[in-house]
This record gives sequence, structure tokens and C-alpha cells, in this order.
Amino acid sequence: MEKIRRTKIVDLLKRTDYGSKVNVKGWVRTKRGSKTVNFIALNDGSTIKNVQIVADEEKFSETLKQITTGACINVNGVLVESPGAGQSVEVQAEDIEIYGTCPQDYPMQKKGQSFEYMRQYAHLRLRTNTFGAVLRIRHNMAIAIHKFFHDKGFFYFHSPIITASDCEGAGEMFQVTTKNLYDLKKDENGKIIYDDDFFGKMTSLTVSGQLEGELGATSLGQIYTFGPTFRAENSNTPRHLAEFWMIEPEVAFIDMDELMDLEEEFIKYCVKWALDNCQDDLEFLNKMIDKTLLERLQSVISTDFVRLSYTEGIKILEQAVADGHKFEFPVSWGMDLASEHERYLVEEHFKKPVILNDYPKEIKAFYMKQNEDGKTVQGTDVLFPQIGEIIGGSIREADYDKLMQRINELNIPMKDMWWYLDTRKYGSCPHGGFGLGFERLILFVTGMQNIRDVIPFPRTPKTAEF
Ligand code: 4AD
Ligand code: MG
Repeated sequence: MEKIRRTKIVDLLKRTDYGSKVNVKGWVRTKRGSKTVNFIALNDGSTIKNVQIVADEEKFSETLKQITTGACINVNGVLVESPGAGQSVEVQAEDIEIYGTCPQDYPMQKKGQSFEYMRQYAHLRLRTNTFGAVLRIRHNMAIAIHKFFHDKGFFYFHSPIITASDCEGAGEMFQVTTKNLYDLKKDENGKIIYDDDFFGKMTSLTVSGQLEGELGATSLGQIYTFGPTFRAENSNTPRHLAEFWMIEPEVAFIDMDELMDLEEEFIKYCVKWALDNCQDDLEFLNKMIDKTLLERLQSVISTDFVRLSYTEGIKILEQAVADGHKFEFPVSWGMDLASEHERYLVEEHFKKPVILNDYPKEIKAFYMKQNEDGKTVQGTDVLFPQIGEIIGGSIREADYDKLMQRINELNIPMKDMWWYLDTRKYGSCPHGGFGLGFERLILFVTGMQNIRDVIPFPRTPKTAEF
């Protein structure tokens, strides 16, 4: 076969030099034909759009028999203006090489398979239209995030993945060890001795890069982390993964209003980026997955988020109960809001994103700045339609004694946290930051319903295939 330089389909569809010889390679989406001519819809992952390959039955009859959905082919042909609606160009095939045939048991053969079914074939579902769209958007969101922070003068800061401290204090960590788990050395009280383990102490995968992020912010001024985080919480929900990606900006000298401004500006920037750069994929998802997607994305970038205190939020929920609204979990001051409460505030009461702040200290992490009322801390959660909590953040307690007091009250083991306390001991400064769950952002931007379907290979309780 004559060697012609490959054109990606995304670029080919923009060309108008009809009559040129072109080469395309890709996977067959569909093939339909008549007695004289066959139409192959070819996709190479560069765009949601397919290019149509027109192949004469007579010329390619033997080859065409082997071309089924999923097969991978290499085509030389002539670029021609397409008479068909909805496509500008097509390729009149002159030479077709089959790279890989695709037998009839190809699991992604049929259209309209359920997402649950496709999860069993996470290695092949990537080739479907929906996952192509989701993953191109995912890539774009990562680029938008780096661009947003870089343009604002934040530094990308790499926090460690293996750590000896539990940032959120929730004890949901996966241990990291090279010890033989069948033959553990224990002391007389039955406690495992870690002296001879790789790190000489108990270590885990991080649940958050925040604590180290604070070290970055108190030296570089403003940083952000963007990396994988791990939580062994046994929650089988459409919003939780055991391995997810988090973006954690941390800023010196920031106060609560500025922090909420940053949260709002950041999310709007990402959503606008998607609207500006992922038009084809969003249109596809709007058509196939969620007919209100584009409208919802537009509405988020054009409305001011509501800002209110946890206490005011509880009052609204109590009023809803008094008016006859039924929640599964009862509402009272001091409780942690369940997803149903968050969604009531966002979807029914305000009908726009809500930033809550000043939470009861009992339901938030040890590092949050304590308010003067002695009851609340300067924590902030951003609540989104469909998603619930998308961001969690806070102003940090910068006062050494107050922080120490909270650590003692909560019995947090301090022997591995001396370095964190040093930030408060040496030149302590007011600072704060937040964490955005990357997959929750992708859920919102794509309109997908389950977090397992916005990451290539999801990790959830009892699933670590692929
Ligand atoms: O609210 P979280 O637990 O906050 C922190 O980890 C802070 N250290 C962040 C900070 O202030 N720097 O988690 C932050 C966000 C949540 O709002 C949610 O979007 C996401 O991380 N998240 C999860 N996403 C998927 N699966 C899980 N299991 C998640 N747990 C949290
Ligand atoms: Mg949270």
C-alpha cells in the first residue's frame, strides 16, 4: 500500500482540498451497504465525529467481508465533498488494509448497552462514543485547571502520595507496606512492629495533599496540587471512588470571602472552558445522555452562587420539614448534611449552586479555623445541582495553641505531625484553601450519572479489575 501521511479525522473533516489523496486510520463504528457500494463510519478517537469511507463492493468485496464493527483499518483514498447531510467530506477508498479484524463476540458490538454492562469491559468501553466524549472532556478539564492556576500565578506543587499522616482524620486510609502480611512481627500487646517495614513506620496512601500543600503555600504564597487521592470509605454510591483525583489550591493571606470568590471563579472557568473547547462532545452528551446539560452549564456560568452559613441552611431545611417536605434523615443543627439536604437547598430552594460556610466544628476536620462563637469553624462546601458537594475547603487555624487544643480534643496522634505544627510555630500566617473532586467536576460537566463512568478504570469496593 502506498505510504501517505495519516490525517487525523478531526483534521480531515476540516479539509476542503477535494481531490487530494489522503490516508485515514481508525476503528469501524458501522458499515452499511448496497449491492454496489459500502459506507463505513470510521472513528480514530480524535473527535466524536466519524468520517465516511465509501468503498465499491466490486473492488473490495473480499476485504469488506472482514470489515465489521470494531475492526481497525487503514485507508488510502480521495477526499471528496460529501453529498450526505451532516458531513462535509468523505473518503472514496482506493486501498484498504485491515490492521485487526473484530470477531462477532466483540462486547461493544451493540448500541444502547447499559453503563453497568459496559463497566465489565472498561478496557473496551473506552472505544465507544460516550467514553470518547467523556475522556476528551476530562483531558480538557485538566488543561483548564492548570491554565487557570498558572495564569493566576499559582505554582503546581507535588504533594506526596505515600504519607504517614491522615489529613482528614477519618481513618479511611489504605496502608502501604512491604511486610509479609501472613507473618507479622508484633509486640507483647499484639501491636504490629513497623521498625523493619520499608519506611520504618506505618504508612498509607494519601487522602489529601492539603497538609503538605499548606507547607507550599506558606513558602511560595499560592500553590495547587493535582493528583490522585485514595479513600477506603466503604460507600457504594454514584459519587464516591476509592481512587479519585483532587485539585487542592492553598493560599497564604486569604480570607473567607476571597476563598469563596476563588472557588466560584475556578468552577466557572472550568465550565466555560468546556463550553468553549468541547462543543462537539457536549452536544453529543446533551443529545444522548442528558437533554438539559448545555442549559445547566450555561446557567452555572451566568449566575452568582448563593452564599450562606450552615446555620441559615439548617433554618431553610427546618422550614421545609415544617412545610411538609420529607427527608430520609432528620434535620437539626449540628448534623452533617446528607446528599438529600444538599440537593434540596441547591435544586429546589435556590435552584443554583450554593456555597455554605461556618459549619459546626464537630463535623469538620481539626485544621479549620475556629470562630469566636466557640461552636463553628470557617469551613466551606460548594454544593452543586445533581452532584451535591463538589468542593470542600476552609480557612486554616493559624494559631498554634488553638490548633494544638483541637488536636488534643480529637486525640489525633501527633508524633508524625510535628512538621505540620512547625508552620504555626515559625512565622505562622493566615491561609486557606480547598479541594475539588476532579471526577465530581467531570460528572457535572458531562451530565453522566455515575462517577464510575467518568474515570477510565474506576476503583470501588470489591472492584480493582484492569
Ligand atoms: O471535603 P474533602 O474531604 O476535603 C479535603 O480533603 C480537604 N483536605 C480539601 C482541602 O481543603 N484542601 O474532599 C474534597 C473534595 C470533595 O468535595 C469531593 O468533591 C471530593 O473531594 N471527594 C471525593 N470524590 C470522589 N470520591 C470520593 N470518595 C471523594 N471524597 C471526596
Ligand atoms: Mg467534604
